[in-house]
Amino acid sequence: MQISITAGVANCAEPPSDAISSESHPSEIFESRIMPIFKSTQPSSCIQCHLASVDLKDYILPSHQETFIALERAGLIDRKHPSQSKILNLIRMGEKDPNLSAKRLHQKTRQAELEAFEDWIITTCEHDPPVLDSDASVNDEAKSKVATLVGPEHPNEVVRYTRKQRLIESFTREVWSQRMRCFPCHTPFEINASDPKHVKAKQRHEDLVKQYGARINLFEKDPSGTLDRWVAASRKKNQNHLPLINLDTPKESLILLKPLSKVPAKREDGTLSPVSSILPVSHAGGLKMFEHDQSYKAIRRWIEDYADVVQGKYVSVDQLPTEKWIPTQKIIRMSNVPDTNEVGTPVQIFVHPKSQKQGLPIAFTQGIITPRGFVNGPLYEIVREELNNAEADSYSPDDNPATQPEGNMESILTAGEYRIRVYVDRHGKLDIDPATYLTEEDFLGETSVTTQWKLGFPNATIFSASNLRR
Ligand code: HEC
Ligand code: HEC
Repeated sequence: MQISITAGVANCAEPPSDAISSESHPSEIFESRIMPIFKSTQPSSCIQCHLASVDLKDYILPSHQETFIALERAGLIDRKHPSQSKILNLIRMGEKDPNLSAKRLHQKTRQAELEAFEDWIITTCEHDPPVLDSDASVNDEAKSKVATLVGPEHPNEVVRYTRKQRLIESFTREVWSQRMRCFPCHTPFEINASDPKHVKAKQRHEDLVKQYGARINLFEKDPSGTLDRWVAASRKKNQNHLPLINLDTPKESLILLKPLSKVPAKREDGTLSPVSSILPVSHAGGLKMFEHDQSYKAIRRWIEDYADVVQGKYVSVDQLPTEKWIPTQKIIRMSNVPDTNEVGTPVQIFVHPKSQKQGLPIAFTQGIITPRGFVNGPLYEIVREELNNAEADSYSPDDNPATQPEGNMESILTAGEYRIRVYVDRHGKLDIDPATYLTEEDFLGETSVTTQWKLGFPNATIFSASNLRR
């Protein structure tokens, strides 16, 4: 007793000894350096690109032995060339990020993770690495089961879908593309000081900044900067201000409600009452969007998708949206809508290839019936993605697909003859789910058009509702 106490005291007097001794023993390195990553409440460096579905913690099991064996089985540790182990390359992914500020933000975490894993793997391989029972009673099936103990819980498609870069792409297409509807008040980078046509716009924007401050500058110079700004602003809780992006109730995102709202009511003395940024919202910029127009639909759908991603709602492949909506400036207009259809009723117009009797549309728009009896809107091309591709296991962390831009897609709406199908929302379906497509029970009729698909409202492709056949 006496002796051990003395020894203990003597040890305490020495410099912290665990750092030195752990250097030599793999299981101690595991405890002192890998376990803290596993237990940390902070996300790992993977969050730089993966908003959900995968974390370095998914690659750690509760013990040194189990973790090493499972990682090796999964092909992530190379005991002959430990420093080339794939798990290290996964952690290094972040170094190749073209987004330099994201790269810097996660630099420290990544470096610590990399050093810890390197130290643990190299030391373990130098010592006497654990082996999975080579006993004949352990069959191949049992061995491959061990490999599935590490890695993300959800399928690779889900991991890929919930990447930040994928969200920036859809943000660019579905939200950023609509920014000119908010010009010049919220788009400082679209105002060209040397353009004489922008003189008024510039003055107006400057006045607004003076009156309302920097919050007026909603759109940054690029999509990812804009998204970062909205996300950061939405994190600040404020009783008098709904979040720009509302994760709990996407339809109550201020970015949607402001442009749907009128200017605040006039007071008795003729001045405006203060603007409201909580329900009921008012907007000093006035009505800039309607619930049933295409921009609203696209922005709302994007916010809902974003909320599902960051809240980890996607767990299986069949839950992932498979369509992209690509905005165009090709306008379609239906005229002579009979007055049996109420003004203000939402209508969806679908474009199908003429040759195809059945099958899916390639473009659509949505609008409401105007008092003059027409419906018009810009077409969105519909691109369907094959998520279940054969390359499901092709992920090689060595080449970083994040640096490869999306291919420049050719428009699918080329000059020619097309079949047009029209649906009317008589049952308020779109009030319940604005991102939905109307179905056969809402079908009004179909016709065909031959068109060049010229750009802009003055060159709209026009057809008459009186030509529709059921
Ligand atoms: C003619 C100028 C003008 C246009 C165009 C305009 N707005 Fe506004 N908007 C304002 C002004 C002024 C404010 C500040 C007062 C307020 O909150 O209503 C504002 C505030 C906002 C806010 C609140 C920002 C915050 O953080 O408090 C949002 C969100 C917004 N607008 C969205 C939009 C969107 C989206 C569009 C385009 C579809 C748009 N606005 C078009 C003038 C405009
Ligand atoms: C610089 C960005 C970046 C970082 C950081 C990053 N990844 Fe990835 N990751 C990607 C990209 C891009 C893909 C999609 C590859 C594809 O589509 O083929 C991907 C896909 C994956 C997949 C799906 C497998 C597959 O075949 O697509 C897994 C699992 C994964 N990453 C794990 C991780 C882990 C674990 C970390 C953190 C240690 C991490 N990633 C850090 C960019 C990154």
